[in-house]
Amino acid sequence: MTEPTGSTELEDQGLPLTALAVAAGRAVETSRADPLVADPFASALVVAARSHLDLPTVWPAEPTEAPPLQQPLLLASIYIGMRTRFIDDFLQSDTPTAQTVVLGAGLDTRAFRLDWPAGARVIEVDSANVLKFKAHVMSRLAAEPGCELISLPADLSMPWREQLLAAGFDPAQPTTWVLEGLLPYLDAASQRAVLGEVAALSAPGSRAAIERAVALPKTDDIEAKLREFSEQTGLPMSELLARADPPDPVELLEPAGWRCSTHTVEELCSMYGRVLSLDASDEPAERGSSPGETAPDQPNQDQSRGGFVTAWLT
Ligand SMILES: C[S@@+](CC[C@H](N)C(=O)[O-])C[C@H]1O[C@@H](n2cnc3c(N)ncnc32)[C@H](O)[C@@H]1O
Repeated sequence: MTEPTGSTELEDQGLPLTALAVAAGRAVETSRADPLVADPFASALVVAARSHLDLPTVWPAEPTEAPPLQQPLLLASIYIGMRTRFIDDFLQSDTPTAQTVVLGAGLDTRAFRLDWPAGARVIEVDSANVLKFKAHVMSRLAAEPGCELISLPADLSMPWREQLLAAGFDPAQPTTWVLEGLLPYLDAASQRAVLGEVAALSAPGSRAAIERAVALPKTDDIEAKLREFSEQTGLPMSELLARADPPDPVELLEPAGWRCSTHTVEELCSMYGRVLSLDASDEPAERGSSPGETAPDQPNQDQSRGGFVTAWLT
């Protein structure tokens, strides 16, 4: 199970499918009887994009009988629900920083749906078309952010420090960084550069929630698999190989003085009582077991996900 990858563009809005698929995941999660996340804007964002793909926005009564295209997206929505909640919980834990930077913000609506402390400032960085589309839809919905929201169009595979400073970022203040669903879309060198900037721009008291990219498995038939994937997606082999060996955020942040914790997808499944399956008979009896506690038969060992790093600079 993976999020749709590549640089597929929606014809009308020029939106990356990845950003839209994640919003669809949050809409589906919101519609569930026991939602981990309530994102009242996700469905409207998906509908406004007028995608030619039939993206689900509602959890169906019989998910195993959903159309074949929708099934992987429904499965992905289970992961997206947990990922969103995990980062929501992180943002609302401890003492929030006055400044938050969301790198690769996509159609994330936390600036509108979370409780922010007085004076909080959120800087969202993504490509201009994504930010413009979101601002347009949110304004049509008359949605007001609960913080000062700054949209910063920038290409994170290029230097972006000066743009962030010019947008009002204060490197002398502690920052909360969010890197959710971003690193898998950058090559290894750009990932290293982004994480290096996070470290370089952080004052003591800063913290970060980072979704890791997955290293491509080093098996004998990897070349053949890459070639097949390249043919299917149109991504050149050179680009795939550039992503093959992503840096470990922990190895970059710890030497810069950060205290890091890692969290597997299985841990999230245990924490939030979810199973990565469309089959209701796989559901656990109760939500909220301890991290790491997973029944042996549960299909939660998702090797296509890299898990998360949470980190603090004291
Ligand atoms: C999978 S989406 C995740 C969006 C958001 N964090 C969420 O969870 O809803 C990845 C986002 O990263 C953005 N992105 C990818 N490469 C980027 C780059 N080089 N510069 C800026 N944004 C980028 C995409 O435009 C997209 O919105």
